[in-house]
Amino acid sequence: MKRMKMAITLLATSSVLLAAGSCLGADGAHGKLLFESPGLGGGTSGKSCLTCHRDGRDFSPETLSRKHYLVMGNPVAGLAEVINFCIEVALRGEAIPENGEEMRDLIAYLSVFIKDNRKPPQ
Ligand code: HEC
Repeated sequence: MKRMKMAITLLATSSVLLAAGSCLGADGAHGKLLFESPGLGGGTSGKSCLTCHRDGRDFSPETLSRKHYLVMGNPVAGLAEVINFCIEVALRGEAIPENGEEMRDLIAYLSVFIKDNRKPPQ
């Protein structure tokens, strides 16, 4: 019985540690799920980020570091704002918090996605 309690305590402790770990660092695997989910931000258009940005379409190595973005003819100030623009306009959802975990995870995955989909030089 005592051993059982001990095991439960250990399990509980390690899941708390795991949860804390994913809060501290951005989680690209979670970001991938969000990127491919039509439900991000409560989206209602049935589209996910991947629908339009498959194979890295519209992305370039500068995508993560631009000072200004032009999205569908609209000037947008920063990366998080661009992502929210796409969530609101393309996914027809609601903006997610700019400094929240979902945004961090999405951006973490975006850098992997852009690297993986870089076009070979022509
Ligand atoms: C309906 C299609 C569509 C969907 C869905 C979509 N986007 Fe976009 N996205 C665009 C278009 C179009 C542009 C801008 C291209 C242009 O105007 O040059 C863009 C631009 C961007 C840019 C800026 C790229 C750059 O280098 O300037 C980022 C970052 C981005 N989208 C992220 C996302 C994310 C994250 C999602 C999912 C939440 C998403 N997009 C969903 C169509 C879409």
